[in-house]
Amino acid sequence: MMKQLFRTKKIDTALEQGSDEIHGGHTLKRVLTVRDLTFFGIAAVIGAGIFSTIGSAAFHGGPGVSILFVITAVTCGFSALCYAEFASRIPLSGSAYTYAYVSFGELIAWIIGWALILEYAIGNIVVAISWSSYFNNLLLGLNIHLPFWLTTNLTTATETVARVTEQIATGAAVTPEMQSILDGFNNAPDFFGTKLFLNIPAFIIVALITALAYIGMHESKKSANAMVVFKIIVILFVIAIGFFYVDPANWKPFMPNGFTGVLQGVSAVFYAYIGFDAISTTAEECKNPQRDLPRGMIYALVICTVLYILISLVLTGMVNYSELKVDDPLAFVFDKLGLKWIGYIISISAVVATTSVLLVFQLGQPRIWMTMSRDGLLPKRFSTIHSKYKTPAFATLVSGFLVGIPALVLPSSIMTDLTSIGTLFAFVLVCLGVLLLPKLQAVTGSGKFKLPYINGQFILPVLVAGLIFLFRTRIKDAVVNISSEAHQEILFLIFILIAVVIAVLTFLRKYSLIPVLGALSCLYLMIEIPVNSWFWFFVWMGAGLIIYFIYGYRKSKLNGTQ
Ligand code: ALA
Repeated sequence: MMKQLFRTKKIDTALEQGSDEIHGGHTLKRVLTVRDLTFFGIAAVIGAGIFSTIGSAAFHGGPGVSILFVITAVTCGFSALCYAEFASRIPLSGSAYTYAYVSFGELIAWIIGWALILEYAIGNIVVAISWSSYFNNLLLGLNIHLPFWLTTNLTTATETVARVTEQIATGAAVTPEMQSILDGFNNAPDFFGTKLFLNIPAFIIVALITALAYIGMHESKKSANAMVVFKIIVILFVIAIGFFYVDPANWKPFMPNGFTGVLQGVSAVFYAYIGFDAISTTAEECKNPQRDLPRGMIYALVICTVLYILISLVLTGMVNYSELKVDDPLAFVFDKLGLKWIGYIISISAVVATTSVLLVFQLGQPRIWMTMSRDGLLPKRFSTIHSKYKTPAFATLVSGFLVGIPALVLPSSIMTDLTSIGTLFAFVLVCLGVLLLPKLQAVTGSGKFKLPYINGQFILPVLVAGLIFLFRTRIKDAVVNISSEAHQEILFLIFILIAVVIAVLTFLRKYSLIPVLGALSCLYLMIEIPVNSWFWFFVWMGAGLIIYFIYGYRKSKLNGTQ
């Protein structure tokens, strides 16, 4: 049984399937160049993170949040290099799922495939909800008022009303906006004894994006490229104009709440970087995937990092960090300076940016299912390619429903954390998977990407010792105060333990430094995510395992071959 669970797929078999697989006589269309891939990467990365969640990260960390953007970029950079090496060897649409299949075997591959649903599908629910709120703000700016019950979900509506009621109870004057929220809530229709709330804009945008992903990669590529050009122009414009309004006094103190305050933004800042990996799911639609995928991923990451660092410096230089705990920080700082028209352009850009994130994730999810279905782990329909549009049509539609329906009724809070955990989990396994690669097959051919080997034998143990020294107080406190309540600290101790084990293994086996650092830094970011979200992550993974044993384990194409 154990052998069956960890049966691996041969790289050659995987490649054969990818190049020759004919689904009802149809294959995907190879239309993407390195420029398209870089644009897809930027399309997926720059979205709600920089337009919204950066606000609360800057509020906690102050101007020092720019350091977190550098640290997170380095962490993502390690993972991007590992993805690049895999993408160069195995240019297939399954991304991390396929990489895990050839390195760790079927069970881990399934787990990764299941975790990637968190990154793409669940992640897109968050993006769709955030899109809806930007869109609604834009409409309000144009004096168009949609009924409250058609713009949000019941949980968020109830929370908003509670906040407004509390403000009024503490003596705040009732503004027209507050009154319209209260009236809107009271006027919401009844539905089986409760109020009916539906986030219609979120549902409609998911339906439109799904339609675009359904009708073709060529159309999706053109739309993504146009959206990226627009959002980059707006961001450069914001940086250039904002630069003139920077008051260097706002940068002091640089870390008002110390490094701990900076670290509070981990989940938000990491969320802003998620997406560069998604382009690896388009491997079978690239003209030269082995050369272009690694380049596209790395170019996208570098460009986004530079923009993020500049934005965080400009933002925290324009106003005092303590004013930034708002949902639309970029628009807010310009509004505050009386430049409302710039704030409005930023809001339009936020809508465009989140649309492009939606598009790339909505392209990524079906392609992973398509690959899993080819391997027999999902029903065959998931890998059918549309005869006219050359896209994984059925999987694209399922993905649309999986995102669109929850976006109608659910709140987004816990889903951001789940997205980050799922993505980090995939990153850790891709980094560790690279360590197994040299044994699997040497990379050959010009233009392919090869991860540089730096011997970690001595460097890593020294780094881990330094880490332990740096965190000595936290480790001591965690050990002394350990109790069943201190979940976050237990996670931290587990991380330290894993770091020590990996350091010892690296000393003994001379592991390559980049993947090991990638895995450890992603693990560190993971343990900073609240424990409550971990609970739901395990529930999700448990459900995935049940499905695997009921279906995938029995139907796998590797059945009987090993
Ligand atoms: N990185 C993407 C965003 O910030 C998920 O919206």
